[in-house]
Amino acid sequence: MQAASERRERLITQLERADILVIGCPMYNFTIPTQLKAWLDHVTLVGRTFRYTGPNRPEGLVVGKKVLVIAARGGDYSAPPVSSWDFQEPLLRTWLGFLGLVDLHFVRAEGLALDPARVPEILKRAEEHMVELLEHKLRYAPADITVDSAS
Ligand SMILES: Cc1cc2nc3c(=O)[nH]c(=O)nc-3n(C[C@H](O)[C@H](O)[C@H](O)COP(=O)(O)O)c2cc1C
Repeated sequence: MQAASERRERLITQLERADILVIGCPMYNFTIPTQLKAWLDHVTLVGRTFRYTGPNRPEGLVVGKKVLVIAARGGDYSAPPVSSWDFQEPLLRTWLGFLGLVDLHFVRAEGLALDPARVPEILKRAEEHMVELLEHKLRYAPADITVDSAS
């Protein structure tokens, strides 16, 4: 029990100290992996990362940070009818927003399991989008960006 609350404290402090959060998130069964859910469960704490200012009036307390989410998917959810099956991005937007993290930027690498021949092109586009966001929206110095697409 004590170990769990110490872990929670460590994760919340780490979150509070961050300027930019980078979340790598594969889609698993239409949503986020259990490990990312567990992290969100740990850092969601009333009076610490959010509070209520009135009935149904939650206020996120983790403010002033930028978030980059790199979302990988085997399928392609960019168009109906399957776009409504995407519980990965809406869940993250809602939950992170609830904590006060509203400056969210998503990079999607999708369709990775559809045609192996297209995978390099999909990853290249995602990588270019990520670098563009880092440089222009997250204002991260290009010199600090290292991308190893071979791994
Ligand atoms: C357990 C599991 C469940 C998955 N569920 C989905 C899914 O619901 N929709 C989808 O498009 N891709 C799904 N995928 C594919 C992953 O999103 C895709 O392979 C992604 O690139 C994962 O990256 P990684 O396996 O390299 O971590 C699943 C993969 C695994 C291993």
